Amino acid sequence: MAFKVAVIAGDGIGPEVTEQAVRVLRHVRADIEFEHALVGGAAYDATGHPLPTQTLDLCRSADAVLLGAVGGPKWDQIPDPKLRPEVGALLPLRSELNLYANVRPAKAFKALVDSSPVKLGPNGIDLIVMRELTGGIYFGQPRERRDNGNLALDSMVYHRSEVERITERAIEVARTRSKRIVSVDKANVLETSRLWREVVDEMAKANSDISVSHMLVDNCAMQLVRDPGQFDVILTENMFGDILSDEAAMITGSLGLLPSASLSDPKEGTVFGMYEPIHGSAPDIAGQNCANPIAAIMSAAMLLQYTCEDTASAQRIEMAIERVLDSGVRTADIGGGASAVGTREMGDAIIAELG
Ligand code: IPM
Ligand code: MG
Repeated sequence: MAFKVAVIAGDGIGPEVTEQAVRVLRHVRADIEFEHALVGGAAYDATGHPLPTQTLDLCRSADAVLLGAVGGPKWDQIPDPKLRPEVGALLPLRSELNLYANVRPAKAFKALVDSSPVKLGPNGIDLIVMRELTGGIYFGQPRERRDNGNLALDSMVYHRSEVERITERAIEVARTRSKRIVSVDKANVLETSRLWREVVDEMAKANSDISVSHMLVDNCAMQLVRDPGQFDVILTENMFGDILSDEAAMITGSLGLLPSASLSDPKEGTVFGMYEPIHGSAPDIAGQNCANPIAAIMSAAMLLQYTCEDTASAQRIEMAIERVLDSGVRTADIGGGASAVGTREMGDAIIAELG
């Protein structure tokens, strides 16, 4: 087998949508081996921890990780935050697997453009947010309470090397697209942003085929609504990327259909990554075969693109999804109404279209 994929389907609709992603991967490539493990609330219930050592070890030994979704109301009340699925599984997966480069494409499916809450210009929206994922205020130390709990402290910390490596990845991605990067920061206020800008400028000089400009984050939030078509690759730090990627995703009108990749350094020549839909675990509709598997299947396509370096298969899948949507096949979340198809049937339709 050429590739080993760790499948951690997680909670809520995670397992059902991930099942369709695995079916599609099996359909387009015969050389992927899948191994399953528990994560999130499902892992907490079975083992007492949302990220068991066994799961982390499996992920470490794999070439890629396919993640469904974690969390749900059942586990929100766990008193120790480190045992809750989001903080106890998602954040440690990111840092332990060194997944510092979060790739979040925001592209409108043509058939769904009218669901965008903004009037899209002629350029529509087709951009990628490159979000730094293992540094900044999410992980900075100290992070604590003082003054009898009355003072809370989070630290925003970046080292030059962290900015360098995410910028390097952004440059690689930009090279496969229109070679334009907008680096987003708050350099008029934050010291981390001034370092960020310095490093990005240095790297831009050394990569003169890429055009790099800077934008302040508040302006970027506004520009995304005004004219999202002006952006190609947005490079930014962890928290700004969290916020801007939600905004960009909403503007596509395809919010629930978007995938993401979290990439590390290349491992044995291939890029190691974790691939997951950006939607959550949707516990209210779990187990009913009505969730939309497209975001999970698009995440599988990203796995093919980045880890398997098989852009052709990735594009084949994207085009098949586009044709299925063009033909009017809809799950309930995207306006299927009375004729909505289920999770498995959407998977069937995409596989049939792949031929
Ligand atoms: C995301 C989510 C996470 C984040 C949460 C669940 C910790 O919002 O992946 O964007 O803030 O990174
Ligand atoms: Mg978020």
